[in-house]
Amino acid sequence: MPFQALKPQVEKILQDTSKEVDARLTAVCQLLRSEIPYYDWVGFYFQNGDKEELKLGPFAGEPTDHTIIPFGKGICGQVAVSNKNFVVPDVKAQTNYIACNIDVKAEIVIPLFKNGVNIGQIDIDSQTADPFSREDESFLEFVNQKVAEIL
Ligand code: SME
Repeated sequence: MPFQALKPQVEKILQDTSKEVDARLTAVCQLLRSEIPYYDWVGFYFQNGDKEELKLGPFAGEPTDHTIIPFGKGICGQVAVSNKNFVVPDVKAQTNYIACNIDVKAEIVIPLFKNGVNIGQIDIDSQTADPFSREDESFLEFVNQKVAEIL
């Protein structure tokens, strides 16, 4: 499904106040994973209290051992510090990378800002080589903005 068609579905899920916030975030992860063929693992990480580390939040896909990631470590930990989108077309070319699954070829991590503060991120793993474009970045920025509104 094209990104434009997914946007209203994401908004609908997030606005469903009959469900807990985590259930809504899980539903968003499931939607993205099922509708975008090259999104094989979709999850949110959030800062763990006031610690300089990320904690895994709602996700869709295989469970990962990496439920806590220190700031600066891996792609996720680098985004926690840089506040910038990180698109990785080939994970093998990265030295500061935490492998969750040997089949993963590419990754995109987009920071999530609440009131201008980087509080977490959405992380996508892909088993397709070099699948992400500027369109993915824009779409995931949209998703994160909408998530921030309900946090
Ligand atoms: N690959 C990430 C770790 C998280 S898993 O992809 C779910 C990283 O390097 O930060």
